[in-house]
Amino acid sequence: MTEADREKRAAGRAAAGYVASGMAVGVGTGSTVRYFIDALGDRVRDEGLSVRGIPTSGDSAEKMKARGIEVVGFGDVNKLDVAVDGADEVSAEFHMIKGGGGALLREKIVLTAAERRVIIIDSSKRVKTLGAFDLPVEVVPFGHEYVLDTIAQTGAAPRVRQSGGGDYRTDNGNLVLDCAYGSIADPRALEGVLKGIPGVVETGLFLGLVDELLVGRGNEVETITANKVWG
Ligand code: 5RP
Repeated sequence: MTEADREKRAAGRAAAGYVASGMAVGVGTGSTVRYFIDALGDRVRDEGLSVRGIPTSGDSAEKMKARGIEVVGFGDVNKLDVAVDGADEVSAEFHMIKGGGGALLREKIVLTAAERRVIIIDSSKRVKTLGAFDLPVEVVPFGHEYVLDTIAQTGAAPRVRQSGGGDYRTDNGNLVLDCAYGSIADPRALEGVLKGIPGVVETGLFLGLVDELLVGRGNEVETITANKVWG
């Protein structure tokens, strides 16, 4: 196991402690979240914890079912008590880039809907400024060439994400453009520009969607409560 995996596991295990019996839980996607699902599954098995979870991907849904966690949809719950998700980058202002795993649209819906957002990362994900990680943007297939050209004019080098020898498709049947900005000085302004392009479904800029940030550092976890006043 790599050092990053150890940190992801520590953060994922710590996040399971934020779930209480009777809660509805939003479950993100990715390798860090898989450790959370494992730890939550252990609590369901060992403590008889009763939880229902809304997964943000087929991958997370399968893993939850395998660990005995009930999978439900938004129509089955009155509210989402807590959501737990990973991130590709978290800035000093607690803004994030997400979507490395392609689940950005469902993840943004779930994090926005949740009463409490717990983000779990290894220490390499904490950055000063967003943008070293290419920004994922989910787009409908129709006219995506136009969207790609338009995004290129915003200072990025976008490319259509590939997988298995063809274009990658999200769980929603859309494409992902990975946009190399290098550095994103004003995430709010960029979000406004990108969301204004017809054909853009969602961006991987997650602004103001962190309540608790759990950072794995070695076998320890640093817990940071995000400043509620975002720039
Ligand atoms: C998936 C995501 C993930 O949270 C992000 O890519 C981090 O993944 P990992 O925990 O595997 O590093 O946004 O769409």
